[in-house]
Formats: sequence, C-alpha cells, structure tokens
Amino acid sequence: MATLLAILNNKGGVGKSTLAVHAAAWLAERGLRVVLVDADAQASSSEWLARAAPEVRAVRCDTSAHLNKALVGLATAADVLVADGPAALSAESAVLAAAADLVLLPIGPSMMDVNASYHTARLLHRVRIQVHRSARPHVWVVMNRVQIRTRLAQVARAAAIKYGFPVTRGYLGLRQAYAEACGRGTVVWRMSDAGHCAAPEIQRLFEETVGALVARPVSTPRTLPAAAVPTMPPRVDSCLPLEAPDVCPLPFGARVGESSSSRYPRRDRPADAGRAAGRTVNSGGPAARAQINVCAEQ
Ligand SMILES: Nc1ncnc2c1ncn2[C@@H]1O[C@H](COP(=O)(O)OP(=O)(O)O)[C@@H](O)[C@H]1O
Ligand SMILES: [Mg+2]
Repeated sequence: MATLLAILNNKGGVGKSTLAVHAAAWLAERGLRVVLVDADAQASSSEWLARAAPEVRAVRCDTSAHLNKALVGLATAADVLVADGPAALSAESAVLAAAADLVLLPIGPSMMDVNASYHTARLLHRVRIQVHRSARPHVWVVMNRVQIRTRLAQVARAAAIKYGFPVTRGYLGLRQAYAEACGRGTVVWRMSDAGHCAAPEIQRLFEETVGALVARPVSTPRTLPAAAVPTMPPRVDSCLPLEAPDVCPLPFGARVGESSSSRYPRRDRPADAGRAAGRTVNSGGPAARAQINVCAEQ
C-alpha cells in the first residue's frame, strides 16, 4: 500500500505546490515509485512536475469523488502518493486529511499566515480525534519564506507551535530560487548556480520528514470506508475549536478564554465517548457528502 503524503493548507501561496513538486522529485530520485496527486484546480504542481521530472506520474483530481477514486486506484501502483492540496478548506482537503498518513503543513512567516492556517490545523486535529482516534495523520508544520534571525520569523514559529504539531527544524528560506525553479521547470538542487542555498535546506527538510520513507514506506490502508470520508461543514466560522490539551491547537484571539470542558465530549468519560462516536461522522451518504460533524457537540 502506498503512503499518502499530503501537503495541506487552506491558505494559498504558502508553498504547497513548491513542496509537493520537490518532495515528489526527491522521493523518486531515491528509487521510490511516486505519483503526484494534484488536487488543486490550478494544476500548477502537475504542470511543473511534468517538466521537472517527466518520469513521475501526475494525476489531476478536481472533485472529492475523483480524488477518492484516484486514491483507491493508486493504492498499489506506487510507494508514495504526494498530494498537493487546494488553497481552500474544501471537500478535497478534508478527503486528503482523512486519508493521509503524513501531512506537511507549510506556513508563511507572519502572524497573518499562522492565523490563516488555523482552519487546516483544526481540520487535522478533528480527523485525528473523530475519524482515526489516533495520532494519524502525522503532521509537521514547515515554516516557509523564513528570514532567519528576524523577529518576525521567531514570533511566527512560536505561534505555529501552538497548533500542537511538531514544527520542523528544517525550513525554507525566502529565496528566489524556489520561484525560479518553477519558471525553469526544475527543482532547486538541479540549479547549480541559483540553488546553492535552497538545495541543502530543502533536502535537510525532506530528510527530517519523509526521509524515513526511503528506507521503510509506511503501510496503512489507503482510504477510509466511504462513509467515514469527511467534508467540511459549510460554515466553518461557526464551529468551536477542539479541546483536548494533548492534541488541541491553541486557538487564537477571542477563542482563548473560552471554557470548553463542559461543552466537549471527552473520551475518558464513557457517556461522552459514546455520544461523540455516534455523532462524529455522518453515515450512509455518498463519500463526497459525508461530513465530520464538527458542530454537533455544540
Ligand atoms: N521559500 C520561498 N521563497 C520564495 N518564494 C517562494 C518560496 N516558497 C514558495 N515561493 C513562491 O511563492 C509562490 C507560491 O508558492 P506555491 O508553492 O505555489 O504556494 P501554494 O501552492 O501554497 O499556493 C510561488 O511563486 C513560489 O515560487
Ligand atoms: Mg499550489
């Protein structure tokens, strides 16, 4: 079974496609059978990869149903599926979050970027709690466009840590090479001139995160039963943050003072556990309409 590495963030421009193309090329160069699953309507990563690593297959998926089907179909056709997520909190991002083994959550170096990533962090926590009831998917936050030693970078990193996922030691600096690699249809480690700073830093990042796949691909069932594949509720803003301190992203702003202990079911309270289990995922409907019922406990 292929390992699914999903690059997710509802915010655009944070480096998802950059990471997806580089990760796909990096893993393929190390002998793994890689397929890029491009779930972004802009299709920039599949077009980029077609030039940078034409030997790596790329599959475009524009609907959650198509995505679900592709994940099932590719389960045995590859060692690693690298999925480039859409720049939105959509049915496609929810399918990827639920099916992923590993997630990279790239975040830009400002509080605005960190705050804008909140919805994806919360989706990932909800998938862990409500769908898998485990620490799956494994999530790494990756800081991007970092200008090291600036206060901005430090503040953003400190804030991103509050989402409750490990923040990688590796990061991507703010470098023209990444934009240039896209324009040239290549990856930074093949740009001997312009890529001399970018190449070691992105390789360090991959060694830290997906490096283990090269030796030992994670093997888990590729997709969830159709009824368990979530889509996001239509009004995300009306939903409350998660509670459990060990897995919960710390909410920003107005939500910080909210006391949630009486409002959220806890798995250590049997009645709540049963209630939560019964309500977490709608059953019966088609995959694309199944829903993590994030508002149900309110
Ligand atoms: N570390 C970086 N330094 C400079 N430019 C970057 C960096 N990471 C990404 N970019 C550029 O930012 C733009 C958005 O990146 P992209 O990977 O397409 O983001 P997303 O897929 O999240 O929308 C692209 O032009 C890309 O080349
Ligand atoms: Mg993109």
